Amino acid sequence: MKKTGLYVMAALALQLAACNNSTEKEQKDGTAQLNAKPGIGEMPFGTFEGKPVTEYTLTNASGMQVGIINYGGAISKLITPDNKGKMGDVVFGFANLEGFQQKGNPYFGGLIGRFGNRIAKAGFTLDGKKYTLAANNGVNALHGGSKGYDKVYWTIEKQAGDSSLKLTYTSPDGEEGYPGTLKMEVIYTLTSANELKIDYSATTDKATPVNLTSHAYFNLSAGADSTILGHELMMNAAQYTPVDSTLIPTGKIEAVAGGPMDFNTAKPIGRDIDKITGGYDHNWVLTRSGTGLELAAKLVHPGSGRVMEVFTTEPGLQFYSGNFLDGTLSNTKGGVKYVWHGALCLETQHFPDSPNQPSFPNTILKPGETYHHTCVYKFSTQP
Ligand code: BGC
Repeated sequence: MKKTGLYVMAALALQLAACNNSTEKEQKDGTAQLNAKPGIGEMPFGTFEGKPVTEYTLTNASGMQVGIINYGGAISKLITPDNKGKMGDVVFGFANLEGFQQKGNPYFGGLIGRFGNRIAKAGFTLDGKKYTLAANNGVNALHGGSKGYDKVYWTIEKQAGDSSLKLTYTSPDGEEGYPGTLKMEVIYTLTSANELKIDYSATTDKATPVNLTSHAYFNLSAGADSTILGHELMMNAAQYTPVDSTLIPTGKIEAVAGGPMDFNTAKPIGRDIDKITGGYDHNWVLTRSGTGLELAAKLVHPGSGRVMEVFTTEPGLQFYSGNFLDGTLSNTKGGVKYVWHGALCLETQHFPDSPNQPSFPNTILKPGETYHHTCVYKFSTQP
């Protein structure tokens, strides 16, 4: 009896140590830890294509945590404090690998590529040659095809300093119809200032379109509100790219000018959403002063006081208001139903369909060049 008790306690202690560096107090009442031990924990998360999937948990000194898995390089959890110090998970995700692998997983937390967003009629012409992609969204290609980078195995290495993970994946020439071998490196860093930084880089051996992004679904209420309609959003963008009925840009760039697409002054997402058929699912043209890291958006959940700022080096921001969530996903974290407008994505990126839109900023990466993209999600609170 005594022995069993000891074994259970030892197993529990091991599990806690493996899972993260937090204390039992945080596990039980969700109270913020001011003196968490920064570091990287590891927990088995299943097997994919014969390889072990691990959930790596980055923890910083204020107790903020980010979980990353090999499958899709996905963000599995993101735990931040509210304005009373209570911790909560602010991203949608699944309790297990089966959840992530289910048909219809709308890219929860995944790394997206080779070309994030849509390519019209699933094809493009490059240097006089026509390339055909999988039409996995009506007649269009979406988020890299039938098996985009959100559905591949990313190798993960812990980096020195205990706050970063390096993920690598090499996409073979011809994968999902794209030309060239694309070698990628994605570094996730959790800083002591409660920032999740994502640094992407890639090289190729043939000219190819590249548009990598992250598909985290945020709801800053951490379970308190079933939708994001009450969140307040500011986007630093005077223009957007209007789309046709299949969400392909028409090629025009239009001013938001005080209309429902105007988020230059923060407003509740629910205020004008009914004026946009289907909800928000558009690319905003960021107002930029250069090519460095600049503020793209600020999201506030008034109830919890949680604030998320988005910084990027990219020219565009896709704001997607969870229009296709319908409460049917299984294996969700805590068995929660992820309903219509339950969460939103703020995807830093190049403009959709760029390979077919000569007036949009270039997305063709050539041999000898290196693709770079940095995105920072910075968390704080307000009263
Ligand atoms: C797109 C949506 C799409 C969603 C898939 C977003 O990035 O803009 O149109 O339905 O991804 O979950």
